Amino acid sequence: MPKILITEPIPDDVIDYLKNFASVTVGDKGTYQSEEALIRDIPEYDGLLCMLSTPVSETVLKAGQNLKVIANFAVGYDNIDVEAAHDLGIKVANTPDVLTEACGDYAMGLLLALSRKFKEAEQYLRDGKFAGWEPLGFLGMELRDRTLGIIGMGRIGQAFADRARAFGMKIIYHNRTRVDEETEQELKAEFIADHKELAQRADVLSLNCPLTEETHHLVNKELLDSMPEHALLINISRGAVIDEAALAQALHQNQIAGAALDVFEEEPKVHPDLLTAPNTLLLPHIASATHRTRKDIGMLAAEAITSVLEGKADSEIPNL
Ligand code: DGY
Repeated sequence: MPKILITEPIPDDVIDYLKNFASVTVGDKGTYQSEEALIRDIPEYDGLLCMLSTPVSETVLKAGQNLKVIANFAVGYDNIDVEAAHDLGIKVANTPDVLTEACGDYAMGLLLALSRKFKEAEQYLRDGKFAGWEPLGFLGMELRDRTLGIIGMGRIGQAFADRARAFGMKIIYHNRTRVDEETEQELKAEFIADHKELAQRADVLSLNCPLTEETHHLVNKELLDSMPEHALLINISRGAVIDEAALAQALHQNQIAGAALDVFEEEPKVHPDLLTAPNTLLLPHIASATHRTRKDIGMLAAEAITSVLEGKADSEIPNL
């Protein structure tokens, strides 16, 4: 029987499904967030179902002498050295599509919470400061007629754009390749070739791109300098798309009006200057965290693993 390592506890249904095909080990929370633990244990496994917090480096892959397939419990897979895996003949799958709606909902939620100051207003009430309705209390940005600038117009970017349109927002976007005309028309989205122009025109700038060499620190001091003072920044992609020190400085100097961040460069660490920044909503990477979506993510990843271990053709393996 093949052996599968699942690096963290995931929904039981998925584990039970995998047990029909293999002997399954589930790691304790956090155990496999270091290369050392993986290098130690990986040699005995044929399949790895890992998290975005699992560092699957070339060294780890080389230690996995029996490893045939890795499925990331995430759509993003910047934690895996995919090129090294392919060189070693190890197949790599991720989980697109199944988390699109949950992430679109969540981005909209962050935008509403940030633009309408939910966090500060709730804290004010809990602090006993609410002394009756105030005409000038907690005035926020109304979304209608505002411009949402999206960097990364893949499935999740489009899902956010769709929701934002329902709130009366105009959509501008940048993507490596321009999306098809039909999608642009549906979302009434305008393609902007230059990041700086996008940042200058957006009232809300949203990061929905993968982390690559090109997008690493894409939001740096220069880009932040070009954002209007009233602008808000939302990041549900990967922390390292932002230069966090530059963002913290921009927030402390009220150079932009606020940020909602679901992801961080050195997770689980958060840049200390972000923790003290004003108008900042900081969440522990939960964009896809719904019961339904996490189960769907798990099943998709599990099916990729079982398909490879059963020797199915690449074309039959989900999201390889
Ligand atoms: C992913 O799946 O890559 C996301 O970060 C989930 O929130």
